[in-house]
Amino acid sequence: MKKFYIETFGCQMNAHDSEKVIVTLTGEGYSQVATPDEADLVLYNTCSIRDKAEQKVYARLQDFKKRKDKIVGVLGCVAQQEGEKIFERAPHVGLVAGSASYNLLPQMLVQIEAGNRRVTGLSLDTDDTFEVPYTKRDNPHKAFLTIIEGCSKSCAYCVVPMTRGPERSRTSASVFEEARNLVADGYSEITLLGQNVNSYRDPSEAGLDFATLLREIGEIDGLKRVRFTTSHPRDFVKEIVDAIDSNPVLCNHIHLPVQSGSTAVLDRMQRLYTRDEYLRQIEWMKNAKREITITSDIIVGFPGETEADFESTLRLLDEVEYDAIFSFKYSQRPNTPALQYADHMTEEEKSRRLTIVQEHQRQIQIPRNAAYIGRVEEVLVDGYNKATQQWLGKNTQHKTIAFGHAVMPAPKDDGTTLEGSYLNVRVTRSGPNSLSGEAVV
Ligand code: SAH
Ligand code: SF4
Ligand code: F3S
Repeated sequence: MKKFYIETFGCQMNAHDSEKVIVTLTGEGYSQVATPDEADLVLYNTCSIRDKAEQKVYARLQDFKKRKDKIVGVLGCVAQQEGEKIFERAPHVGLVAGSASYNLLPQMLVQIEAGNRRVTGLSLDTDDTFEVPYTKRDNPHKAFLTIIEGCSKSCAYCVVPMTRGPERSRTSASVFEEARNLVADGYSEITLLGQNVNSYRDPSEAGLDFATLLREIGEIDGLKRVRFTTSHPRDFVKEIVDAIDSNPVLCNHIHLPVQSGSTAVLDRMQRLYTRDEYLRQIEWMKNAKREITITSDIIVGFPGETEADFESTLRLLDEVEYDAIFSFKYSQRPNTPALQYADHMTEEEKSRRLTIVQEHQRQIQIPRNAAYIGRVEEVLVDGYNKATQQWLGKNTQHKTIAFGHAVMPAPKDDGTTLEGSYLNVRVTRSGPNSLSGEAVV
């Protein structure tokens, strides 16, 4: 039996692609192994969003320079971005394929088996989505479900439209079918995935928009939680908030990356919305009946970001009071328009701004989290932290809560665990990034 190993970098889209790649390879007679040493085929599903992510991949490839017994494959965003250049830089690589070509993986495997040492799948000219009949997920309770692939926006700093190709939505019928299959298989939480999930447009006659799709998925019997990520402000409509308000199965957490609080910077980023338009969407969430948590991505040090622009971002954080943010230093990416912009900033200045943003947000999170003390929150149990001897779970708002359980303080040797169950936890302590408490038993 041919053996493969796969390691995944990057976002949830990549994580889920890897799950689908595993199913595809297994269907072709391969079996998955836990270490590269045991494998005949070593695959890296790569990320290129920032330079650091890309460098990680080349570091991994170095490990196999002298291992002629193995075929190394580079999948994902670095594969699509660098294409055949990867063969020059790492001549021992035998397969380079981007996510828009994964449908062709079986044919590519045939070529590899026939002894072809340079197999590629790099076309972006596709209307296809990567659908496999049934995909086993890594987690037995929570599943990712892709509804839309690629991105047809053109943010000036971003490689994704080039690494994942144009936006392609799946038909609502195939999305519903997969969701029902997941529920039948015991999954209770589904996260709808897409670079911009809310740009979803059903290509079939039904023609559902994202808010309607969300409402209908929320009606599937047996499903406890539905999440979705990432939403793009350009296509964010109030109907999404209304849908969440009307059905508690739809989790009250929205990740709506703003990137910058300055309209001038947003304009140069080609984000297609202004600070005020974004803040109006935040108002919809704040005025909702349910308490919706809001998270965001921030880029600091975009070319030409003045001190005043940067201040606008800090003021926006004050105004929105996010529950969490992911913040990044702007990273120069190949073939993106922002490379040509004037006034690129030094690393030191970007680092300085990043530290300020993170500390600023930390101060916002302290009181926000403290307000949870005394509340009872329902969590889906995710796992157990041996070091702290606490269980870990998430509430519907996507907040992680660590907790003790009087009856089952730890997983049992016979495998009995709380993982996958929904429990009520009373919050007793909080920090800038954490909540903890005791299960109500
Ligand atoms: N489609 C989503 C985000 C996808 S990428 C959206 O538009 O919101 C995830 C995050 O990586 C982005 O939100 C952005 O904050 C960050 N990012 C993307 N390109 C980057 C770059 N060149 N430098 C730094 N951060 C970047
Ligand atoms: Fe990148 Fe912009 Fe597309 Fe998001 S919307 S993936 S940031 S180009
Ligand atoms: Fe990275 Fe590609 Fe995702 S660049 S963040 S793996 S879409």
